[in-house]
Amino acid sequence: MRAIIVDSKGPERLRLAEVPEPVPAPHEALVRVSAASLNYGEVVHAHGRQDNGLPPLPDGLVLGADAAGVVVQAAADGSGPAAGTPVVSMGASGGWAELRAVSTATLGVAPADADPGALSTIPVAGMSALRGLKRIGNILGKRILVTGASGGVGRYAIQLARIAGAEVVASARSLDRHGADLRALGATELVGSPAEISTTVDGVLDQVGGQQLVDAFRALAPHGTLVSVGHSSGEPETFPFGALFGDAGRHDRAIVSFFLGAQSDFEADLTWLAAQVGAGTLDPGIVWRDDWANASEAFTALLDRRLGGKAVIEIR
Ligand SMILES: NC(=O)c1ccc[n+]([C@@H]2O[C@H](COP(=O)([O-])OP(=O)(O)OC[C@H]3O[C@@H](n4cnc5c(N)ncnc54)[C@H](OP(=O)(O)O)[C@@H]3O)[C@@H](O)[C@H]2O)c1
Repeated sequence: MRAIIVDSKGPERLRLAEVPEPVPAPHEALVRVSAASLNYGEVVHAHGRQDNGLPPLPDGLVLGADAAGVVVQAAADGSGPAAGTPVVSMGASGGWAELRAVSTATLGVAPADADPGALSTIPVAGMSALRGLKRIGNILGKRILVTGASGGVGRYAIQLARIAGAEVVASARSLDRHGADLRALGATELVGSPAEISTTVDGVLDQVGGQQLVDAFRALAPHGTLVSVGHSSGEPETFPFGALFGDAGRHDRAIVSFFLGAQSDFEADLTWLAAQVGAGTLDPGIVWRDDWANASEAFTALLDRRLGGKAVIEIR
């Protein structure tokens, strides 16, 4: 079968290649993939552009966390959906391929008529937004800040926070380009950075890190939680003396780290997100979509930060 693999010696680091078909473990279903989405983290890791403290990806690895398709072989242990079921699938790798062997614990059932390209954006971006917001707690009637709001996670987070009854402040550097669509997704207030916030927020979903995280923490109301999902800025966080004081009006504020890969019980949330995307309640924010033979164009746009939304490759 064909797949996009890591090739550290090649000019593009990621290339379409012929590889052996995956052999599913007993708890894995075999999925015929029709669309997959790209995440900044996996592409930047393959290209070695940001030192994330992780070892380099091995040559030959089939990359791809997010993929949508149809089960062609149900898991041998009897778990998960039957052959013929449309699914959205998540994993550390293996999604950018014609066939994916994937644990049934990370499969969601999709509506039969849903667009696989839209579904493929769900796993990393949609699930991180959903689980990150859940980590903040009950956000009904609360004021929530989403940083890196123009990105894949940020766009889902705006919409999900609105569905959950929050007032959403969206922070993005490129408001001239993205402001109107972030409002259309449900943001009630737009800022160019968290430093501009004058009224405190009850929770933060941070995709950027660095100074933006420090400024977002300063904007946090007592009992508020900042969930640190991403580190797009690549900058360190340096808190000035006093920033962590717990005096009147600033006490009991938390910063929690987040790792989607350490979460569990994905099936129900993936299925729910697939239903929302299928029904058009959630906009997947696709800004680039093409045959996977042209994926290098999307890799470059992603690395150069020109996308502002999700890139989807169609696997034909
Ligand atoms: N912890 C986890 O399990 C987990 C899961 C998913 C994602 N992530 C991480 O979360 C982050 C967001 O993911 P994503 O898929 O949404 O990425 P994305 O689509 O690339 O979006 C990131 C957004 O951050 C903003 N940004 C980028 N560089 C910035 C900078 N130097 N300063 C300020 N803003 C900057 C950009 O918006 P503007 O240019 O419009 O401001 C961009 O739209 C990534 O770092 C990703 O690796 C972590």
